[in-house]
Amino acid sequence: MTDAANAAQIAYWNAATGDTWAELQERLDHQLKTLGEQGIRTLAPQAGERILDVGCGAGQTSLQLAEAVGPTGMVTGVDISQPLLAVARTRAAGQAGIQFLEADAQTFDFEPASYDAIYSRFGVMFFADPTAAFANLRKALKPEGRLTFVCWRAPADNLFMALPMIAARTVLPETASTAPDPEAPGPFGFANPDRVRRILDGAGFRDVQITPYDEAIGAGDLEQSLSTSLRVGPLGGILRDNPDHQDQILAAVRAALETYVTPEGMRVPAGVWIVTARP
Ligand SMILES: C[S@@+](CC[C@H](N)C(=O)[O-])C[C@H]1O[C@@H](n2cnc3c(N)ncnc32)[C@H](O)[C@@H]1O
Repeated sequence: MTDAANAAQIAYWNAATGDTWAELQERLDHQLKTLGEQGIRTLAPQAGERILDVGCGAGQTSLQLAEAVGPTGMVTGVDISQPLLAVARTRAAGQAGIQFLEADAQTFDFEPASYDAIYSRFGVMFFADPTAAFANLRKALKPEGRLTFVCWRAPADNLFMALPMIAARTVLPETASTAPDPEAPGPFGFANPDRVRRILDGAGFRDVQITPYDEAIGAGDLEQSLSTSLRVGPLGGILRDNPDHQDQILAAVRAALETYVTPEGMRVPAGVWIVTARP
């Protein structure tokens, strides 16, 4: 892909991060499934509809949407990550009514007014110019179409992501707690609902609704959660930078996670926005 608008994210999702997500996808899908399903319930896909799944990653939600629209419908998963699209295409092999497109959703020239609905599970917070991206997506929606996406609220509402770093800081209090730039592309880029509304209003959407949804989620059992935390998020880097404290940090993270073990596996609080709008 030569598109320059999101060059940094294209590089990011095609290098180590894309490979890690592709490798851990089953575990990450397990973790994110119910949050995405709350978004799909809100979208209420109908038989025969054409739906665009933005930032579809390895395709779990595209497959779910394809099942909902049935053989007369069509789901297109769009993503910039070759490793994740490869997983998605393998999963959907031989299935009718689903296709994947390697493209930047911010700039791709979608057929105007061609989709009944646009959906995303955690795939819309990475645009360099989110207003331009949503204006581009709005053009692809039929006039009576609808948009639904799921995005993270603040780290404080998402203990499953924040907990490993909170625990690491009990061992290394000086560990920088650099709060991410709240407007920078990244997982928490849409945590501020006022910003989300501003972006969607600016892109021409109407009837914007932003609803909180909370659920305790997990990436399997304690060991699986611990190993996922080491691969996805800042904990791995902290351990590499502090070789003398690795055992202590790991023990603190394990102890913190243990609090959230249930008979069904880890269940740690997570909080998202379910956002809906009309073109
Ligand atoms: C956090 S992952 C979520 C993936 C998937 N929706 C899921 O829930 O498993 C974010 C996804 O957005 C994709 N993405 C980021 N920027 C994009 C863009 N400009 N156009 C299309 N996809 C993008 C990434 O490649 C990545 O697959």
